[in-house]
Amino acid sequence: MSPARPAAVVVLAAGEGTRMKSAIPKVLHAVGGRSLVHHAVAAAAQLAPEHLVVVVGHGRDQVKAHLAEVAPEARTAVQDQQLGTGHAVACALADLPDLHGTVVVTYGDTPLLTGATLLELVATHADRGNAVTVLTGELDDPTGYGRILRDASGAVVAVVEQKDASEEQRAIREVNSGIYAFDAAVLAETLARLTTDNAQGELYLTDVVGIVSGRGERVAALPVTDLWQTAGVNDRVQLAAVHRELNRRTVEAWMLAGVTVVDPATTWVDADVTLEPDVVLEPGTLLQGRTSVGRGAVVGPDCRLVDTEVGEGAEVSNTTSYGAVIGAGATVGPYTYLRPGTRLGRKAKAGGFTELKNAELGDGAKVPHLSYVGDASIGAGTNIGAGTIFANYDGVTKHHTEVGEHSFVGSNSVLVAPLEIADGAYVAAGSAVTARVEPGELAVARGKQRNIRGWVARRRAGSRTAAAAERAEHSGAHAEQGDPTRQHHEHDQRKGRDA
Ligand code: UD1
Ligand code: CA
Repeated sequence: MSPARPAAVVVLAAGEGTRMKSAIPKVLHAVGGRSLVHHAVAAAAQLAPEHLVVVVGHGRDQVKAHLAEVAPEARTAVQDQQLGTGHAVACALADLPDLHGTVVVTYGDTPLLTGATLLELVATHADRGNAVTVLTGELDDPTGYGRILRDASGAVVAVVEQKDASEEQRAIREVNSGIYAFDAAVLAETLARLTTDNAQGELYLTDVVGIVSGRGERVAALPVTDLWQTAGVNDRVQLAAVHRELNRRTVEAWMLAGVTVVDPATTWVDADVTLEPDVVLEPGTLLQGRTSVGRGAVVGPDCRLVDTEVGEGAEVSNTTSYGAVIGAGATVGPYTYLRPGTRLGRKAKAGGFTELKNAELGDGAKVPHLSYVGDASIGAGTNIGAGTIFANYDGVTKHHTEVGEHSFVGSNSVLVAPLEIADGAYVAAGSAVTARVEPGELAVARGKQRNIRGWVARRRAGSRTAAAAERAEHSGAHAEQGDPTRQHHEHDQRKGRDA
């Protein structure tokens, strides 16, 4: 065990956050794909404390349930009434008797604070043998914060809250960040002596500083220059500002790790995303949740990928994807919607205006245009023609469709599940397929074409169409070019054979 390992970190998160004007507890609002309190707990966890305690109050059931999911290593202490920051810490310590060593206090609404800064706080605290070390910042506008009072020698003697400060004290620009390291025994003993004799009638944690200093014990400040690290979120304007700054930091770190980001201002990357070198992110790209992108892949412009795995060298543009796996060298988009359970093999293609759900495409399989593929597996090298619909739902249950390897489904077909189309099979364009197709077969499931001679002349006499038909017949164009419908039909079939 490292000597710097704290006995406990206490994260204060019981406040209501009224200025958020929200039904959701403040610390559950998210930036960079994690709640505010998740960020706070993740930084605290980097200290590897013996105890990690989050003090909850407002919305405690929601906050507890959330923490059980994202940070099961954290325990919670309940503060029923918000009687002040000193009371909140006392609630945490009530469950932890006989603490020895260092206790760190942070806030649940300060998401840019890093584990590195906390490690520096704890190391400074231990190295100097302090009873209290407080993280401070120098602000141009210190309004609202507690001010750091120093004596003539420069030693920290107290913290005075805005509401309790004199005019002279309010001019002080060094403020209390609210993040501290305390000697556990000193803290426990001092908390018991706090009073509510102040402008807000609260038990102020900040009073510990004055009491301990007054006894002649060592109290020191650790100034931070990176003020974003201590920026708390109180309203949605600050939420957006902190989110933008977190994103700026995240994107900058990825650029320094070898990722090209064409427009950092319109590229949003969540904290839990992983990117490999030589990834290119085009403008308007949102990478969310646990998305990962492999070496050399190009994502964007205009993509939202959530919990999506993008393989090496893949190209994904104008795509929305939830929980899909995109194989190496695959191409997706533009205007493609991938839903959970979608897996694209190596060099597979999901093209424009195509939606896939719970659908597996083998290596090199292609669904290039205007299709819906739901609950299906499509074998390697198979081509699905434009406008094909996998009809997976009969109004009651979902069914599965299997298409084998190197098969070909003609354009504008409906494949009605449950259905199997074997390896090396064909489906003619415009078919509604309901029965199994065996290897080597061509399935044709559509009305047979019949041409009714002279219909236009009889039923649309005097129309432009009738005149055009007459001209064509007299000029002999009919004989040269044949019936246009017929020609298209034959063309489709030829394409089918060549593909
Ligand atoms: C506090 C500090 C102030 C400092 C500022 C930095 C005190 C008395 N003042 O002021 O010196 O400059 O933070 O942001 O500590 N909380 C609880 N239970 C409570 C009260 C608060 O859990 O009973 C939590 C809140 O949810 C919040 C944090 O403690 O996360 C700070 O509380 P807040 O009321 O915002 O304190 P400030 O008045 O901002
Ligand atoms: Ca605050």
